[in-house]
Amino acid sequence: MRGATISTLRQMKATGEKIAALTAYDASFARLAEAAGVDLLLVGDSLAMVVQGHESTLPVTVGEMVYHTAAVARARTRALLVADMPFMSFGSPAQALDNAGRLMKEGGAHMVKLEGGASQLETVRHLTRHAVPVCAHLGLLPQSVHQLGGYKVQGRDTASAQQIREDALALQAAGAQLLVLECVPAGLAAEVTAALAIPVIGIGAGPDTDGQVLVIYDALGIAPGRPPSFVRNFLAGGGSVPEALTAYVRAVKDRSFPAPEHSYG
Ligand code: KIV
Repeated sequence: MRGATISTLRQMKATGEKIAALTAYDASFARLAEAAGVDLLLVGDSLAMVVQGHESTLPVTVGEMVYHTAAVARARTRALLVADMPFMSFGSPAQALDNAGRLMKEGGAHMVKLEGGASQLETVRHLTRHAVPVCAHLGLLPQSVHQLGGYKVQGRDTASAQQIREDALALQAAGAQLLVLECVPAGLAAEVTAALAIPVIGIGAGPDTDGQVLVIYDALGIAPGRPPSFVRNFLAGGGSVPEALTAYVRAVKDRSFPAPEHSYG
């Protein structure tokens, strides 16, 4: 396989080099993100909101995720390519395997990402047994927005922080090879990152995770609506899109992003 693999990312965790990741939904942005030096491209189900204009990530379908993943895969040469399993596409281990298979065979993804903790352990084991690499996703789970009552920081009280710690260890034991941790206090993210052997990529999770991911349209300040407070607009000072994406990768690698104002206490 050409380019970065999960072993590359594990090696980066071991050496302390920060992993820079961005979402991408099409070939042109994927090419620009790669040229800027990202290590990982995520075809996030955030595309439902930033590309398709929906109010949440829930409506995007497996077919649409496959379409966008294939577009990114055609441009990708080096970064690890991860695709999101959309809402209601992994309700059972068998359904998850069918849909993950489509994202990998038709879309060209190297790994699939799915949201959830303890309830997803059997699915993670099933996918792993069938050679589907899994990225887990804990903290704020956008697919559960209606259950959570909004996009809120998670893990602020003792019980929910403990649940996140336990879920992270259990997902790793079930076979997850990567973890995305979204919108949790920086201290909790640091603890989880130190406790896991697998790399942890944060978004709104402070500076101490093994890497950072942003929705590319947020990093460029072109997503609709008010951006979350953990976002920095790398195009705000002027310049070009390639320069802004290069500045993002540089800021992740030299640890100047996220700054304290992009983190939750
Ligand atoms: O869908 C997405 O873009 C994501 C990131 C926010 C991590 O899951």
